[in-house]
Amino acid sequence: MSDAPAVGELTPPDRTLMGPGPSDVHPRVLRAMSTPLVGHLDPSFIEIMNEVQELLRYTFRTDNQWTIPVSGTGSAAMEAAIGNVVEPGDTMLVPTNGYFGGRMASMAERAGGEVVKVDAPWGEPLAVDDVEAAVREHEPDVFGFVHAETSTGVRQPDVPELTEVAHEHGAYVIADCVTSLGGVELRVDEWDIDVAYAGPQKCLSCPPGASPLTLNDRAMEKVLSREEEARSWYLDISLLEGYWGEERAYHHTAPITNVYAMREALRLVAEEGIEARWQRHRDVAGALKAGVEAMGLEMNAPDEYWLPSLNAVRVPDGVEDEAVISYLLEQYDLEIAGGLGALSGDIWRIGCMGYSARPKNVSYLLAALGDALDSQGADVDVDAGLAAMSGALR
Ligand SMILES: Cc1ncc(COP(=O)(O)O)c(C=O)c1O
Repeated sequence: MSDAPAVGELTPPDRTLMGPGPSDVHPRVLRAMSTPLVGHLDPSFIEIMNEVQELLRYTFRTDNQWTIPVSGTGSAAMEAAIGNVVEPGDTMLVPTNGYFGGRMASMAERAGGEVVKVDAPWGEPLAVDDVEAAVREHEPDVFGFVHAETSTGVRQPDVPELTEVAHEHGAYVIADCVTSLGGVELRVDEWDIDVAYAGPQKCLSCPPGASPLTLNDRAMEKVLSREEEARSWYLDISLLEGYWGEERAYHHTAPITNVYAMREALRLVAEEGIEARWQRHRDVAGALKAGVEAMGLEMNAPDEYWLPSLNAVRVPDGVEDEAVISYLLEQYDLEIAGGLGALSGDIWRIGCMGYSARPKNVSYLLAALGDALDSQGADVDVDAGLAAMSGALR
């Protein structure tokens, strides 16, 4: 046997997180995470669960009884949504306009569903007419779309029109709101979304580990009347109902610390007010956008479907995307990311989410990005960028 490994104290670097997630965590959330554990069936924890559910309903803008944090990352909430709503033999319509539509397709297939697609290029939203044509052609049981495509920086507009078209043809609607919840206007009830899921580590500024999910009664009826059990025991909503519903009986041990974190993160949302929070994201990310544009860079998404929480900026000719990313990390302890899939090498993805959506963060980011681009010999006007950003923040 080898000797005990000599592993030193944990001292992670002090990064500023402006990538596609996680975002910087609010100090109050970190403090909540260092409070003592109680049991996951302790009466005090049941009270905390109720509070988290109430706060999640507020944040999703829904009255859905069935609103919970799923144990696991955003993909767990995503798989709970798709794996329970899609039954073997069901058809699910998914989008092709980004990375996460592809993940929806894989999950629907694993659930025994047949996948059909509605096309739009990466970097563009779905058009209502195209969704209508696809729904007419395929008569899907379920339609999934991504409200905030983290891979492209595109916000899906016209959500009420999309849900109407799907409902006219009897399809349930699942919305991926991982990068919108708590940062970008989202109205689950008013927009008639049947199922929505999200991630904690984006606009809620909460570490990954428990992820929001909400289902309306109509979707819940489908889930509870399935002929075949959901393929995942862990994410079977009919079983999770025992813990998060009336009974509060053991299913699995809840990630208590993550539930504490979410409670505090959602309390911050409620204190700020959800609409004010959406506005803050628009204002602060708007200043960032004004800055990069005045420098001479181009946003990947036009203004009509720009996503404030994820700013996709086109890499100018002659500049190496990775060199800029590394420079920012090494020189400034600042994290941004490159493009994925069809946009790999073409864009930088700059998050402006939750606690990271602050004037302090965007000023730092823009100054550092200007320096990184200068160091690469890029033809950018850094001073003009900084002036435009300051002007927009004023
Ligand atoms: C739009 C979208 N959907 C789903 C996910 C999956 O979430 P996670 O990585 O937390 O599992 C992400 C993560 O970035 C995302 O951006």
